[in-house]
Amino acid sequence: MTDAGVERRPEPVRVPGEAELAEAGLRLDVDGAVATVTLNRPERRNAMTFATWRGLAAIGRSLPSDVRVVVLKGEGPSFSAGIDLGMFSGGGEGFSDGADAEATDRFIAGLQEGYTWLRRPDIVTIAAVHGHAIGGGFQLALACDLRVAADDAKFCMKEPALGLVPDLTGTKPLVEIVGVPRALELCLTARTVLADEAARLGLAEIVVPRDGLDAAVADLVTALLAVNPGAAVATKRLLWQAPENTLEEQCAAERREQIGRLRELFGK
Ligand code: ACO
Repeated sequence: MTDAGVERRPEPVRVPGEAELAEAGLRLDVDGAVATVTLNRPERRNAMTFATWRGLAAIGRSLPSDVRVVVLKGEGPSFSAGIDLGMFSGGGEGFSDGADAEATDRFIAGLQEGYTWLRRPDIVTIAAVHGHAIGGGFQLALACDLRVAADDAKFCMKEPALGLVPDLTGTKPLVEIVGVPRALELCLTARTVLADEAARLGLAEIVVPRDGLDAAVADLVTALLAVNPGAAVATKRLLWQAPENTLEEQCAAERREQIGRLRELFGK
């Protein structure tokens, strides 16, 4: 933290190279304060592998410090068809660095790092969702702060239908957004939620015609960048802790953040 209460990022580590990202089915474009991460295996409907999730984690660790907004989108007809089903063909043997539960726990924690950085307060993250967002793809959209959906978006938490649980950080944001009963219904039926319903449930903040998705995201990015950077960081930090805090704790957090703001704005 600085005196002004604004969290500074640690110096970014090496940005993964283009070839490395391509191998992981990803593309990264950084333009000043905006980074765009594109899931880029359209011929597989942007199905994701372990390399994809590790690549996402590496992008999170290496973001230039002046990036304020990160957009996640999918190339081709879908946002993402979730885990690459080809990875199940070896009887699941690739799902751990070792045989015991501890090794598997560490292994999954490493994959989850591809998602958790999206909630960091120093950036605002937007999922631009069109077509299918299934399983790990739906969870990736949920890991973002905001979701802008095209009217052809289809969300589905498929994991239970495959004998798995959603373990790419999605259960918490899902419950935060729709509540436990609706989350249960969506997960245990693995049904598909279309864009209109997604908007009603709060799974998408904005729904636009498919050909207006890029423009809607660009407008949102412009609006987000117009806000004072320090205030944006402090406000995101405040809002994300609000559900866990008592009113008293949240009031104290508001005072702490405001002291930082006043110092930065007026030197007091
Ligand atoms: N893993 C690997 N390959 C995939 C995946 C996937 N998850 N999804 C699609 N593909 C491949 C298809 O096998 C097909 O390959 P082919 O051209 O060699 O035949 C290609 O992508 C195009 O897929 P289609 O099914 O032809 O495309 P369509 O637009 O008709 O359907 C859809 C798209 C609905 C996404 C369908 O492909 C599908 O249901 N995919 C599987 C989704 C799934 O169950 N994901 C796992 C979720 S659980 C989790 O993420 C942990």
